[in-house]
Amino acid sequence: MTPAPTHSCSACRIGLWAIVLLVLLFVLGAAIRFLPDRPVTYDDPVEHFKYGSTGGERNMGFPYWLFQVLPEVCPELLPGKGYASLGFIFEPGRDLPVGMSKRRHLGIDRVFLNCAVCHTATVRTAPGAKPMLVAGMPANQLDLMGFQKFVQQCVNDRRFTPAQVVPRIEEKTGGLGLLDKWVVYPLGIHLMRDGVAGLLGRLRFIHLQADWGPGRVDTFNSAKAIFGVPFEQLPPEELVGVSDFPAIWNQALKQGMQLHWDGNNSRVEERNLSAAFGTGATPKLIDHAAIARIEAWIATAAPPAFEKRYPIDRTLAARGKRIYQQACAACHGQSGSDFSGEYVGTVTPIHEIGTDRGRLDSYTLQLAQNQGMLYSADPARRFRHFRKTYGYANAPLDGLWLRAPYLHNGSVPTLWDLLQPSAQRPKRFYRGNDLYDPRHLGFVSDQAGENGKRFFPFDTTLPGNGNAGHEGPAYGTTLPDADKWALLEYLKTF
Ligand code: HEC
Ligand code: HEC
Repeated sequence: MTPAPTHSCSACRIGLWAIVLLVLLFVLGAAIRFLPDRPVTYDDPVEHFKYGSTGGERNMGFPYWLFQVLPEVCPELLPGKGYASLGFIFEPGRDLPVGMSKRRHLGIDRVFLNCAVCHTATVRTAPGAKPMLVAGMPANQLDLMGFQKFVQQCVNDRRFTPAQVVPRIEEKTGGLGLLDKWVVYPLGIHLMRDGVAGLLGRLRFIHLQADWGPGRVDTFNSAKAIFGVPFEQLPPEELVGVSDFPAIWNQALKQGMQLHWDGNNSRVEERNLSAAFGTGATPKLIDHAAIARIEAWIATAAPPAFEKRYPIDRTLAARGKRIYQQACAACHGQSGSDFSGEYVGTVTPIHEIGTDRGRLDSYTLQLAQNQGMLYSADPARRFRHFRKTYGYANAPLDGLWLRAPYLHNGSVPTLWDLLQPSAQRPKRFYRGNDLYDPRHLGFVSDQAGENGKRFFPFDTTLPGNGNAGHEGPAYGTTLPDADKWALLEYLKTF
């Protein structure tokens, strides 16, 4: 037999190598294009808090450009122009709002919410004044339910198709590569529709609730969604646990206190990890180093002083201090920076405090047990400190002036109102204004709107919104007016 001619064999070998090389190049190209997983990072701790990633974009992240064009695809589904009309805050020169981070993942820039979206807001001292951004205060303009409903409606809208959306992206970016135009974004649109359906489907309980209004979220019904709880079968008293966003300064001084509004957890680290779920950062995806930086910042971050913006009558405040020390300090601490006090960081039983039960009842023993299983693969981080309690927590009052509206459900607009018996507190008021009222300590709450922006009419007669409680001689509501004004003056120093 004659051997096969060697020249044809070397040709086929060269051909084979060429194919292998091409495949390798293709794989390498795809890897370079699709494998990188890098968040945009910030050295400054406050910038990191405002715009840094906690890892959640990998899970829930919206493709950046889809997020950007959504308001143009469905403008009439928003209350006004762009995301700002839902209370998102845009700093000058920024393409994303405070509280949104960006990450390159699966070949595309993806964005999602971080801690600052619920824990940062602005304050104005006069109608024409420049808003001051305060990291760590409750985001009392942000309408999170409005945002959830907008995204859900828009991605399910017949306009949310590659044919309508991709040209808008091309217009904004000045043109897309072929791969982006024909593969990445069309696929992204389908994935986003499925992702949103999955995520917001689990959060479907929101459709059983009245509008939260800005500055509030139902914390623990959202947590129940992680465990696939059948909301339709829950008893009605569990179903409305809407709570005000809290301030998160000075966490180091709050270690060991029973916090969250109902005092269900005494460990700062666990409260942070549990909060991270809200940003999509599940145990597998969470960026612990990034969270640690936030933890380090909120450990010592302090609220801005009222006195830097407005005067305080020191003589009156000194008189108020004596009243405070008698009536309030045992539960709320000596001052805005000294949190010592016999009952600080413990829970006052519900029959004693008498505020709305909704948030308390929404947190159940069963949920506490389920939460104990999260992080079970990571024993060092496993949640061990969630407890079912039977009241609300006596919390420190640091930065009190910026924490309005007051109580766990944000049902009392000003501190002055909180010092009145509940029958005299406003039954309806407006939430969402960042204009400050330094006399009553709170945000202006009697205006329906300003410059085309409408504020949210808050109705204290709805389930979960009750404004009763924290009243009687122990809570200052029976003091003579002169004493109440003195107390208010002292609380300005917090
Ligand atoms: C979706 C809005 C939202 C996001 C995002 C969010 N939080 Fe919160 N946070 C809340 C609400 C609401 C509470 C009060 C929970 C309750 O008791 O019902 C809270 C409570 C807290 C507390 C306890 C405060 C106290 O004194 O009781 C800390 C600390 C905290 N959050 C930190 C964080 C950190 C860190 C992140 C980011 C990893 C984060 N939060 C993300 C809404 C949010
Ligand atoms: C027996 C303990 C106790 C005493 C005494 C007490 N409080 Fe409270 N306070 C609470 C509890 C518990 C809450 C949370 C109630 C809720 O949100 O439903 C609260 C909430 C508050 C809030 C709302 C905080 C926020 O961020 O919304 C303020 C302000 C406040 N108290 C001020 C005072 C003042 C001023 C006094 C004294 C005149 C006082 N409290 C006396 C237990 C107490």
